[in-house]
Amino acid sequence: MKQSIIAGIGKYVPENVVSNSDLIKYMDTSNEWIVERTGIQERRFADRTGETTTTMGVEAAKIAIERAGLTTDDIDFIVFATLSPDYYFPGCGVLVQRALKMKEIGALDVRNQCSGFVYALSVADQFIKTGMYKNILVIGSEKHSFGLDFSTRGRNVSVIFGDGAGAVVLQASDDKERGILSTHLHSDGESAEILAMYNPGTHANHWIDRKLADFEEAEIGEMFMSREMVDKAQLYPFMDGPAVFKKAAVKFPEVVREALDKNGYSPSDIKVLIPHQANLRISQFVQHELKLRDDQVYNNIQRYGNTTAASVPIALCEAWEAGKIDKGDLVCLAAFGSGFTWASALLKW
Ligand code: UT7
Repeated sequence: MKQSIIAGIGKYVPENVVSNSDLIKYMDTSNEWIVERTGIQERRFADRTGETTTTMGVEAAKIAIERAGLTTDDIDFIVFATLSPDYYFPGCGVLVQRALKMKEIGALDVRNQCSGFVYALSVADQFIKTGMYKNILVIGSEKHSFGLDFSTRGRNVSVIFGDGAGAVVLQASDDKERGILSTHLHSDGESAEILAMYNPGTHANHWIDRKLADFEEAEIGEMFMSREMVDKAQLYPFMDGPAVFKKAAVKFPEVVREALDKNGYSPSDIKVLIPHQANLRISQFVQHELKLRDDQVYNNIQRYGNTTAASVPIALCEAWEAGKIDKGDLVCLAAFGSGFTWASALLKW
C-alpha cells in the first residue's frame, strides 16, 4: 500500500489587516475583551470584490503545487473544504479546476466547517492508499468577512473570524517511514443547531426550537430566503460560544490521544501539534491537558483569527516555513467545530 506524503504546502492571506480597534467602528466591543477571551489581535479580510473563497484557495494551491515540483497537469483530484463557498452550488472545487485550467479531473467539496481540512485530508489519504490517485490537491479556504453580522448583535461571532486559505499536495509515496499514519473522524449531531447558519436552507424550522421566519404564513418562494429573514438577521451564523468551548475542550485532547494511541506514541513524541485555531484559550487548555511544551504547539490565531477550514493548513504552512518541521518529524493535526465534528491526523513529515 502507498503512503500519502505532503509533497507541497502553501498559504494565502489577504493583504487587508483588520485590528480589534478597527472593529470598534462597527460594534460595541474592545481590544481588551477580544484579546482576553480569544487571544486574537488582528485578522485579514479579503478584498470585497477582488477576492473570493476560491481565488484565495487558488493562490494557496499554486504555491503548494510549485513547492511539490509539479504542474497543474499532474494533479489527479481536488478536495476543497469550506463553509463559505462562492456559490451555494456548485462547489469551489470545480471553480479551482476552471481557474487553474486543469484537466477534467474530479472535484469534491467537503462541508465540515472547522474540521473540514482534516476531513478533506483523510478523504484524499484514502484515495492515495487505494492506489486510485497519485497527486491530490487539498484546499481549505474561507471568506468569512462577507457573511458576518458586524453590528453589536453579532459581536460574539464576528470578532472571532478571519479570511484566508491553505493548501497541500498529497502525494503517493513508497517511503514507509513517512506520510499520514492515521486519521480519525468523528461527529455528534445532537447539538447541530448551537453552531450553525440556518438560512438559506430547507429546514422550515423542523429542527429548530427558536422560532425563525414564520413559515406557516410564508409563500412557497419565501421559505428559502425572505425579507423577514433579512430584517430579523436570520441570515447570519448563530453560535452558543460557551457550549462550543466546553465540548471542544473535551474532544480536542481526546482525538489527539486517539491518534497517538493508535500508533503507539505519547504526547512527548509530538514535534508539533497544529490545533484548529478556534480560540487561543482552547489551544492553551489542550496544551495543558496533554502536558505539551510551548514549542510543541503552533498557534497563529493572534494574527489571523479563526479561519475555520483554512486554519490548520495556514498554521501548518507557517510552522513549516519557520523551520519548525523537518523530514521525519511527528506532526499532529486536530480540529473541532460545527456539527459537532472533530478529527485528527498523525503524520511523519
Ligand atoms: O471554530 C470552532 C467554533 N467556535 C469556537 O470554538 C468558539 C468557542 N467559544 C469561544 O471562543 C468563546 O465562547 C467566545 C470567544 C465566543 C465568547 O467568550 P466567552 O468568554 O464564552 O463569553 P460569553 O459568550 O460568555 O459572553 C460574556 C459577555 C456577555 O455579556 P454579559 O451577558 O456577561 O453582559 C456577552 O454579551 O461578553 C459579551 N460579549 C462581548 N463583549 C465585548 C460577547 N461578545 C463580545 C464582544 N465584545 N465581541
